[in-house]
Amino acid sequence: MAQDNLFEPIEMGAQTLKNRIFMAPLTRLRAIEPGDVPTALAGEYYSQRASAGLVITEATQVSFQGKGYAGAPGVHTQDQTTAWKSIVDNVHAKGGKIVVQLWHTGLVSHKSVQPEGRAPISASDVKVAVRTSLRDSDDLAIRVDTTPPRAATLAEIKQVIADFALATKQAKEAGFDGVEVHGAHGYLLHQFWVEQTNQRDDEYGGSRENRARLMLDVIDACVEAWDADHVGIRVSPQGTFNGVEAGYEEDDNIWLIEKINDRGLMYLHLSEPDWAGGTPYTDGFRQRIRDAFGNMIVAAGGYTAEKAEKNIEAGYIDAVAFGRDYIANPDLVERIREGAELNEQHPETFYGGGTEGYTDYPFLAEK
Ligand code: PHB
Repeated sequence: MAQDNLFEPIEMGAQTLKNRIFMAPLTRLRAIEPGDVPTALAGEYYSQRASAGLVITEATQVSFQGKGYAGAPGVHTQDQTTAWKSIVDNVHAKGGKIVVQLWHTGLVSHKSVQPEGRAPISASDVKVAVRTSLRDSDDLAIRVDTTPPRAATLAEIKQVIADFALATKQAKEAGFDGVEVHGAHGYLLHQFWVEQTNQRDDEYGGSRENRARLMLDVIDACVEAWDADHVGIRVSPQGTFNGVEAGYEEDDNIWLIEKINDRGLMYLHLSEPDWAGGTPYTDGFRQRIRDAFGNMIVAAGGYTAEKAEKNIEAGYIDAVAFGRDYIANPDLVERIREGAELNEQHPETFYGGGTEGYTDYPFLAEK
């Protein structure tokens, strides 16, 4: 089957992307500690994948408090920004475009990676059965139970908003083509949105307006720090991730997407529930999302090129992001174009380590 639509250029804000095959954000846990500085090797890894219409980086902290995983990078200190600048330059030199995904992990964290060893913040002190990843004495990634969270104070909420704005400024300084706010997968912004983890009775809890407030305040702060043409968001409606339940009807998610749309963001990135074993979206829901959001819609989660082509053709989405396929295939765009086979994936090297399973997956020409 021809995948013609995937190779059509697409507008992202005022920029034009060369195709609609994107690299999804992928946590790889190889940053340098202490400091959470991305490595020079990350420059090679990302630039190998520069033929993507858009590279979206691994989730990247907006503050030391926003850290949940040993080995995830940040974009809030000067050292981190300098390191990212070199990575971005590498991608641009190969003709690619790259945005950085900004996250605060909230309760998906452990006191050993938190400032002063404190409990991580969340909307409320609700414990969720979820694990995170630390490093053992050999620097290998190990899974551990998270530390039960504490409810963020109002001052801490204001700080989180300021931290997203600062990280956006750092991203701009590093030369990124934009930022993607991580509003999905049970991390902090999602923890505020969902009643299961948000039992607050102030203006950040209760009604859906209040539970959406942090996500929307963060978006507004990022837009103010840069502009709407350089801010996108990832959400995961109807899916349960990291033990944080969706728990919402379509209407609430469509309402939230309409509020996001009011901000004029450059894109809406949907992480569909399929990849984590959830129920696939109906076409009716896809159409409601399309009607609610005016700019580019990117979809990810258990996609094949055929499914992406079909959903673009139907008008539900504009672009697709591939995750695990992009880990294993630096030249995924060329492989899709040629209908070539994909490399075998090696999940044991997804998290932590060095070059193995990171920069050594072969290109077509090398096979
Ligand atoms: C993961 O490490 O598996 C992970 C991280 C961030 C996400 C989703 C999954 O948004």
